[in-house]
Amino acid sequence: MQKSKIAGIGMYVPSNVVTNNDLLKYMDTSDEWIQERTGIKERRYAHRTEETTTTMGVEASKIAIERAGITPQDIDFIVFATLSPDYYFPGCGVLLQRAMKMKEVGALDVRNQCSGFVYALSVADQFIKTGMYKNILVVGSEKHSFGLDFTTRGRNVSVIFGDGAGAVVLQPATNKDQGILSTHLHSDGESAEILAMFNPGTHANHWMDQSLADFDEAEIGQMFFSHNMIDKAQVFPNMDGPAVFKKAVVKFPEVIMEALTANGYQPSDIAVLIPHQANLRIAQFVQQKLKLTDDQVYNNIQQYGNTTAASVPIALCEAWEKGKIKEGDLVCLAAFGSGFTWGSALLKW
Ligand SMILES: CC(C)(COP(=O)(O)OP(=O)(O)OC[C@H]1O[C@@H](n2cnc3c(N)ncnc32)[C@H](O)[C@@H]1OP(=O)(O)O)[C@@H](O)C(=O)NCCC(=O)NCCS
Repeated sequence: MQKSKIAGIGMYVPSNVVTNNDLLKYMDTSDEWIQERTGIKERRYAHRTEETTTTMGVEASKIAIERAGITPQDIDFIVFATLSPDYYFPGCGVLLQRAMKMKEVGALDVRNQCSGFVYALSVADQFIKTGMYKNILVVGSEKHSFGLDFTTRGRNVSVIFGDGAGAVVLQPATNKDQGILSTHLHSDGESAEILAMFNPGTHANHWMDQSLADFDEAEIGQMFFSHNMIDKAQVFPNMDGPAVFKKAVVKFPEVIMEALTANGYQPSDIAVLIPHQANLRIAQFVQQKLKLTDDQVYNNIQQYGNTTAASVPIALCEAWEKGKIKEGDLVCLAAFGSGFTWGSALLKW
């Protein structure tokens, strides 16, 4: 079957830099705590009204499309990964299709949080392999700054996340030694609530003994959103950080090894590993476990925080722009996040 290759890549981050010290205005935290636990020094926040998840995706896509040597009208399928969409529905894919004046092509939104981009890339890869499409735009974008709890109550989550977007154009590989070698996707819903945003939703407290929202007094028409939910701060993401950490440091190395083994490689063969930028400590743990050198792992969480579905394409783009990825290099993308879902992609650049 025809392999696919990344023909163009782009990234966009908002100009507004928010340092750890800037967060002291909103919550009880410290630069020292954040850097020590996560490695993050600063992140970017989108302009409140002028930028959205889709507009940032558009900016990254323009660059990726131009670098692929095509125009938006050449795109024949869109896969858009995000957990912070402009609208609850429809998804960002159609908003991007409209904004970029593309043809009436298919637009698919992927809701796999931190592993969203790897999932989206894998979906696109299958469509290229079967010959169904020739120019697929794969986007990861997030505007976290709009939906976090910026009080001390939400500090374990809000200090971690940042805004930004990355995009790639996937095309059939013309050179047989180039392109995506394989992708590997996994999930384990046992811990779905460990990193989650429950409301608004239709769960009706079905899945947990613990109440995630007060529905008892609610009438039809009051269940999806209520003042009560807002008053009790039940509309923000929840995370059991240590539990996420423990699972991530097992699943990252596992899924990287799965990709390497499937293609007859070992860790020392990797030119660059792009791990999802969840937490610098997680990436360092993975590096140590696989005995990779500093040159083999690219991290930029220090500057951008965790940008969820955007983190892999942003890091990949930046690494490539800095000349750290060259033609023929073995590149591994790996991600883990809410769900839990995790995955990897191994490619020859
Ligand atoms: C979130 C994370 C940084 C927290 O670090 P930790 O060492 O596990 O810290 P804990 O959650 O055990 O909390 C330790 C203390 O720090 C406090 N704390 C939490 N957030 C804080 C913040 N932003 N600033 C200051 N103190 C904070 C807690 O309240 C707690 O205080 P206590 O001991 O008085 O109760 C860490 O668990 C982590 O990175 N986990 C993985 C998260 C992740 O990668 N998420 C994205 C998945 S894709």
